[in-house]
Amino acid sequence: TVKVPKDKTIDNTLAIFKDGYNFIPKRVQNHHLDVYETRVLGEKVALLSGIEGAKLFYDTSRMNRKNALPKRVLKTLFGEDAIQTMDGDAHTHRKLLFMSLMTPDALQELYEITTKNWARFTKKWSSMKKVTLYDESRELLCRTACEWAGIPLEEKEVKKRTRDLSNMIDGFSAVGPKHIESRRARKRSEDWMEDLILQVRQGKLEAEKGKAIHEMAMHQDLEGQPLDARMAAIEVLNVIRPLVAISKFIAFGGVALHEYPETQTRVSLDDEYLFRFAQEVRRYFPFVPFLGARVDHDFTWQQYPFKKDQLVLIDIYGINHDPKIWENPDQFNPERFIDWDGGLFDLIPQGGGGYYKGHRCPGEWPTIEVLQASFRYMTKHLGYDVPKQDYSYSLKKMPSLPKSGFIISNVHFNN
Ligand code: HEM
Repeated sequence: TVKVPKDKTIDNTLAIFKDGYNFIPKRVQNHHLDVYETRVLGEKVALLSGIEGAKLFYDTSRMNRKNALPKRVLKTLFGEDAIQTMDGDAHTHRKLLFMSLMTPDALQELYEITTKNWARFTKKWSSMKKVTLYDESRELLCRTACEWAGIPLEEKEVKKRTRDLSNMIDGFSAVGPKHIESRRARKRSEDWMEDLILQVRQGKLEAEKGKAIHEMAMHQDLEGQPLDARMAAIEVLNVIRPLVAISKFIAFGGVALHEYPETQTRVSLDDEYLFRFAQEVRRYFPFVPFLGARVDHDFTWQQYPFKKDQLVLIDIYGINHDPKIWENPDQFNPERFIDWDGGLFDLIPQGGGGYYKGHRCPGEWPTIEVLQASFRYMTKHLGYDVPKQDYSYSLKKMPSLPKSGFIISNVHFNN
């Protein structure tokens, strides 16, 4: 029998920081199996990669999410007891709530709001010497997200809300002051949103049906009970926070348009190419490195004995760059999506599998919509120069980002 490969050292927690996005691929992809055993933070952890690994990770009869996320992540990034931690029927019921927001009309509206805000920001940027696209697009997206979700946003609070929503994302893996600030950002954001939820329920704040704030405020759980106001607030944040995070893909997209200038004309004119370009940005650039779940009951898979409650990590970045799945995975090539069959376990920057039973991101279509609106605007209407700067990014630093945040200058309307 072939043996399941293992790390020989006692603990590999530090290796995660040293290897970054390559922590799992480096271990699993050089072997004959899609599973590899290591130890992280004192736990025996099974690392999964490849299409087969993704299928196992998203098999809800074998994996669950109870206690899969560390407290520090829940206290910053996601919020406690929200959809990310749910299983079974209760999860599916909550997921339907999110999926109900993603109608074709709502997605079209998101595209239009995004475009409108690009025009507004272009005007503002045209009087600025330099524009850091990552920073500016976060504010652009905070405005977009709130409008789309039906959340009132006063001019004087835009900067603060933008900062809090991004600090919740960036502080979860940090230590010290950055992590503490991330917890404060979550508390402030939850307080803000809980107050708005109560206002909607009392009829003091008008919210249109179909908008996230309305749907979360009025939702009933499987027992027919409304969500606790704090919970509803957390779930609204689970819509607007990740919308702001799309700024990372926008900054990376700016890099791609600059590094591969031959893509620009087609992005500006050809709708199908625009879609493929957005997909390739999501595949190619590093964002989510891996995700965790726990084993539901003992079973053996590819000769490896999975133990009940064991932690399992799936190789998100590695699967998007797996040479067994993608031809020349380290080349940026939107054309690879011409004959892509839409597999549920190969392009997984936002998780894999189906939307309803598992945890695949319900915001995948909104993300694609926002990216298409942004890249179309950038190539069609935004004139700019790219001054000398270091926009390289590191695969060792998680989450990754172009170092300069991608700076543009001489911004003007390009009609
Ligand atoms: C879940 C990534 C945008 C809402 C997830 C997951 C990932 C992810 C990796 C976890 C999948 C899993 O646990 O198996 C991203 C990325 C985004 C993005 C990279 C773009 C920057 C969005 C947007 C929304 C959203 C725009 C809302 C409009 C959610 C929610 C979940 C989720 C509610 C939890 C789903 C569940 O537990 O069933 N996302 N996401 N995301 N995402 Fe996104």
